[in-house]
Amino acid sequence: MSSQQPAVRLTGWGRYAPAQILSNADLERMVDTSDEWIVSRTGIRERRVAAAHESTASMGAIAGLRAIKTAGLDVDDIDIIILATLTPDYWMPSTAALVKEAIGNTKAACFDVAAACSGFVYAYATASAYIGAGMAKNVLVIGAELLTRFLDYTDRGTCILFGDGAGAVVLSASGEPTATTGIELTTDPQGAYMIWLPAGGSKAPPSYDTLSRGQHKIRMEGKETYRFATRTLASTGLAAVAKAGWTQDDIDLIIPHQANVRIIEAVAKGLDLPMDKFFVNVDRYGNTSAASVPLALAEAANSGRIKPGDKIVMVAFGAGFTSGAIATEWTADPSRGPVGDAAVRPEDISVRLPVDWDSVDPVPAALAEILARPLPGHLDLSDVVPGEPEHAHQTR
Ligand SMILES: CC(C)(COP(=O)(O)OP(=O)(O)OC[C@H]1O[C@@H](n2cnc3c(N)ncnc32)[C@H](O)[C@@H]1OP(=O)(O)O)[C@@H](O)C(=O)NCCC(=O)NCCS
Repeated sequence: MSSQQPAVRLTGWGRYAPAQILSNADLERMVDTSDEWIVSRTGIRERRVAAAHESTASMGAIAGLRAIKTAGLDVDDIDIIILATLTPDYWMPSTAALVKEAIGNTKAACFDVAAACSGFVYAYATASAYIGAGMAKNVLVIGAELLTRFLDYTDRGTCILFGDGAGAVVLSASGEPTATTGIELTTDPQGAYMIWLPAGGSKAPPSYDTLSRGQHKIRMEGKETYRFATRTLASTGLAAVAKAGWTQDDIDLIIPHQANVRIIEAVAKGLDLPMDKFFVNVDRYGNTSAASVPLALAEAANSGRIKPGDKIVMVAFGAGFTSGAIATEWTADPSRGPVGDAAVRPEDISVRLPVDWDSVDPVPAALAEILARPLPGHLDLSDVVPGEPEHAHQTR
């Protein structure tokens, strides 16, 4: 990097996960599976499900605004919003454009990035390039997904894996000495049909036929994907580490794509690194695709796992097959994360709809009952009869 090029720093981070939980026990009632099978093969115990009023844009806006607050910036300090997703609100406009309006930004250029579960890392690399080229000062990078509306709840090979959520970072230009960063991105089209959503695009536009054949849901070859994931997470991560000028021993924390704890364990074994070098939250969120790395990054920072000067590696893989890694030194104050989270209440964020919009109910039939039940932690007192004090003492 020449001395004229601005250094890129991560200055803000934020996250959002919907309140409702879809547990393994819930899935046992839908498909032929068991909590024991899911936990032992994937490490997943539960995942979050977006409510009917939520969308990829609304979740991305909450996480994005939290990242801006964590960075201590005003919304109009953001010059570009890049949103990575495979579950956009619409084919057009971009979901990033909807986020811009929802957070009240009036200045940013907005676009989406499509690289499936590697999307956030690709968007991060894109933002770094804009800042490095002097074309932007502050870029909001969001990974947001609403996967539960694109799952086949009769396919036990996929419906147990995925969940909803969002995470975001702000990357800023800095005149101060640069934090070292190494970026590696790869794509292997041999894997193009290993994870895919066949219909809805120009190759198979939505029709009665595509609907009746169930072609609007995610399909996956689990074993092939597993093999690719274990190989590529290690090689892509190490390539980014080498580009940063580090060795493997320098790494303080790896934030891997949260697809399956067995994949992460296999990578740890292959690299001969202890599991405590890897941040894991797949047990609570499942695979949230492009949201997975930034959601995990924000949780790692807020839970005290990252301190200034730490060398961290974010590494992802996904449909395409794509893969990407960022190796960077953490320079922000981790104590700001919870401040940013607390500053933005989900109920204060809304994504505008056109006045004449008459939408269908977006909730999949298989999830209707789950989304109708009281939120976790919410004590349902609707059947309390005055004078029956024992009801009021019930706890969940
Ligand atoms: C999907 C995945 C968990 C399956 O685990 P696996 O150990 O490979 O399991 P297999 O596909 O070999 O299936 C083993 C058996 O379990 C069964 N099975 C599959 N899903 C099941 C489920 N949810 N519950 C119970 N049994 C299940 C299979 O039918 C098979 O039964 P059989 O032996 O009678 O034929 C694993 O392949 C995986 O994680 N792949 C990567 C997926 C991924 O990361 N995708 C996202 C990429 S971004």
